Amino acid sequence: MASFQTLPGFREFYPEDLARRNHVFRLWRQTATAFGFAEYDAPVLEPLDLYKAKSGDEIEAQLFSFTDKGGREVALRPEMTPTVCRLVGAKANALKRPIKWFSIAEFYRYERMQKGRGRCFNQFNADIFGEAGPEAEIELIALLVQCLTTFGLTEQDFYVRLSDRNLWFYYLEALGLDEPRIRGVLGAVDRYEKYGDEAFKGYTEQFGPLDAGIKAKVLAFLQIKSLAALEATLAALGGDKLTGRLADWRKLLGGLEAMGLARFIEVDLGVVRGLAYYTGFVFEAFDRKGELRALAGGGRYDDLVQKLGGPALPAVGFAIGDMTFSLLLEQRGLMPTFVSAPDVYCVIGGEAERRAAFADIQTLRAMGYRVDYPMKDVPFGKQFKAAAESGAKLALIYGADEIANSVVKIRDLATRSEREVPAAQLAETVRDFFSAS
Ligand code: HAM
Repeated sequence: MASFQTLPGFREFYPEDLARRNHVFRLWRQTATAFGFAEYDAPVLEPLDLYKAKSGDEIEAQLFSFTDKGGREVALRPEMTPTVCRLVGAKANALKRPIKWFSIAEFYRYERMQKGRGRCFNQFNADIFGEAGPEAEIELIALLVQCLTTFGLTEQDFYVRLSDRNLWFYYLEALGLDEPRIRGVLGAVDRYEKYGDEAFKGYTEQFGPLDAGIKAKVLAFLQIKSLAALEATLAALGGDKLTGRLADWRKLLGGLEAMGLARFIEVDLGVVRGLAYYTGFVFEAFDRKGELRALAGGGRYDDLVQKLGGPALPAVGFAIGDMTFSLLLEQRGLMPTFVSAPDVYCVIGGEAERRAAFADIQTLRAMGYRVDYPMKDVPFGKQFKAAAESGAKLALIYGADEIANSVVKIRDLATRSEREVPAAQLAETVRDFFSAS
């Protein structure tokens, strides 16, 4: 049987699992719509080139890729960002700005499996195109927070770590590093939380050991946890770039504070994000207990639309993954259990009665009620048991006597009270029952 099992890292959704997933998607969709984002979709299979050198080495190594029957190099999408850049880039002039788009879709990465990480997962992506200032980040971080709080999560459950690749660049530039070395240091910063000092190994191999004074400053920069501390550290260095950037920080944090979201946000320059295309502010959401991998990640990527053949168009966005998010909801007891029950269950005497029942079943279903009935003739007793177990509110009884008298017997399954109604009044009686209950 082994070969018939799902592939490692792939999930199956039994109905109760799918009900939970649908619940998550429904609330994400509702929230994005409330923020004025429009939904789009795109192909799951894309040209391999879309990801090569654009998403970064890590994602490239994780691609599910192959040659199709026409000899094309293709890949299952590992993320949405390059795709949405192509979509927006192709119609940029016709789209009203700012362009606020979202999607809910499935992605594939050949990753080492661990808690909250699979090889096939879903993401909610939200992106804004055409807005260069931190106003776009305010809107997106607010959306990210609401996508989590709408399920009942609070600032005790999660937080958003906010960082800035531009600030790192300007800071390291002011400390005298050139661009390749800055990229090397940022690679080390990305790995520092996980590997400690080992994280600088790659830098040392490429450029020799990092100057001890600069390294101390880099490590101190990582400890910064507030805008005030950031301002104090940078005041000594001065310079237009750093001063201008601090103004962006004040605008972003001020906007989030005005939205009442400051309690969710932490300044944390340890976040630089592995993906290759980020250019400015970057952020990640984590559970407060630190037990799970990232819930969400995103940032600004002002060059990617143009790199993929579109016009120069500033862009910023994020994605929430469904796996860690659902784990967090379950841990906090915030994932509802979904009961699947009909509204009405029909108890049917035999073949002759079945015909009368069928006409009513069709009518009630067309009215939107969920109606079940036994497929085969089984004794009344068994049918009543099935009706009670189904969770239905009403049983409709179609026996020989009822048909002969042109009535239907209605049993309220909660109170067990019964009454007969003329067959012609069944639909309105059922409607009255449900609108009253
Ligand atoms: P990312 O950080 O690679 O960003 O992924 C975002 C989220 O997707 C992660 O925080 C995680 O919850 C989930 N995720 C990623 N990989 C896996 C996996 N193997 N298994 C389960 N969940 C996973 C991006 O993908 C960017 N494209 C986001 C973005 C949108 N940036 C701008 N716009």
